[in-house]
Amino acid sequence: MPGVVIIGTQWGDEGKGKATDALGDRMDYCVRYSGGNNAGHTVVVNGEKFTLHLLPSGILNAGCSCVIGNGVVVDLGVFYDELDELAERGIVVAHPLISANAHLITAYHVTLDKVSERFAGLKKIGTTGRGIGPAYSDKVNRIGLRVQDILDADTLTAKVEAALEQKNQVLAKIYNRRPIAAQPIIAELLTYAERLRPYVVDAARLLNDALDAGKNVLFEGAQAHHLDVDHGTYPFVTSSNPIAAGACTGSGVGPKRIDRVIGIAKAYTTRVGEGPFPTELLDATGEQLRTRGGEYGVTTGRPRRTGWFDALVVEQANRVNGVTDVFLTKLDVLTGWEQIPVCVGYRIDGAIIEHWPMTMSELEHAQPVYEYLPGWVEDITAVRTFADLPVNAQAYVKRIESLIGARISGIGVGPGRDESIVINQLV
Ligand code: GDP
Ligand code: IMO
Ligand code: MG
Repeated sequence: MPGVVIIGTQWGDEGKGKATDALGDRMDYCVRYSGGNNAGHTVVVNGEKFTLHLLPSGILNAGCSCVIGNGVVVDLGVFYDELDELAERGIVVAHPLISANAHLITAYHVTLDKVSERFAGLKKIGTTGRGIGPAYSDKVNRIGLRVQDILDADTLTAKVEAALEQKNQVLAKIYNRRPIAAQPIIAELLTYAERLRPYVVDAARLLNDALDAGKNVLFEGAQAHHLDVDHGTYPFVTSSNPIAAGACTGSGVGPKRIDRVIGIAKAYTTRVGEGPFPTELLDATGEQLRTRGGEYGVTTGRPRRTGWFDALVVEQANRVNGVTDVFLTKLDVLTGWEQIPVCVGYRIDGAIIEHWPMTMSELEHAQPVYEYLPGWVEDITAVRTFADLPVNAQAYVKRIESLIGARISGIGVGPGRDESIVINQLV
């Protein structure tokens, strides 16, 4: 069972980092295939917390080689800050391998992300401001910079100058900003060239060879299904394909190489940034969920929007991603509620539907239809088997499983590497 993909089934921050780290000891490779440092993945090992934005979450497992795939957009400053920070904390990790075809985020992408959000005013997306959208736009527009370009100063110079010729028109004429000079950007990128050069690889060849040799490869999704540019709540999405299929385009392996797709689902729902969220709670209960769950963005520190579990959200993600197993995280956060609502349908203009709607305007008008399940009060953080969970917690998990179209193979009861209940061993 060598090719495993982990994806988020909601709007991000489901606990993908913890799940990736927990499987890391059985993995030969851990690969990021989409997004960039808009991601914030938390790993807690022996009570010590690590926040990873660009480094794959397998990095803390000594036997696991980390790879940044072609589908990722890389801010090299952030990448090296993260690596150096681990070293400063005394954590020895191997330098990740990086696809020659991965695209680069530069200062002008970050500037354009910020000014375009400001310009949009109330219509903003609520991006992380990390330059993600502009970098992917350049990739599709065929004016992007790739990792391989910094190994050739002449090519890099020509590409940055050409890109800025266009960007500076946009900055000056649309956003009324000062133009950006090419030289400092080129000079900064070139400072990374020699440090990076030994680790630049043909990642597609490397990973296919590894799979041929029977190695275990874990593809770590960032963001989530409902933030996918094709399948998410467009336009309130990121600019890449975090879905499981993105693991193929974003790393260069064929679909037949993926044996298992693990969908990570939080036992309730959160979202950062703008966009529809039918079960959102804007009251004291929402605040309670935020406080108990520690729901503040890892990347931007923004308070996350919170709400009850929405089965339609996760069922849709499980369907489109071919999820084979769900890992239900943060069940411990739900301890102490007398009853717990679960969204089982939407009321839209008087009619009730029990599946994800086809259009965004339907979703924007959707009112959640709740089923109320009895809660539990016992502390479950030390529970390690399903049978030891309180009966009502077992029933909550079983009811969710019956609604989402995939089996629940693991349950999170705390942030730590070992704070999980394993129902089906996945690797
Ligand atoms: P990711 O982006 O999907 O990797 O998730 P984040 O790291 O952004 O957010 C998940 C948060 O929940 C982190 O603070 C994790 O340490 C924490 N977490 C993960 N699983 C569990 C769990 O089962 N219980 C609790 N209480 N916290 C968890
Ligand atoms: P992880 O991997 C939650 C959201 C932003 C915004 C939208 C577009 O930690 O789950 P972008 O900067 O990508 O152009 O922003 O996507 N977003 C995330 N929300 N978790 C993430 O990553 C996210 N990455 C992007 O808040 O709404
Ligand atoms: Mg996160």
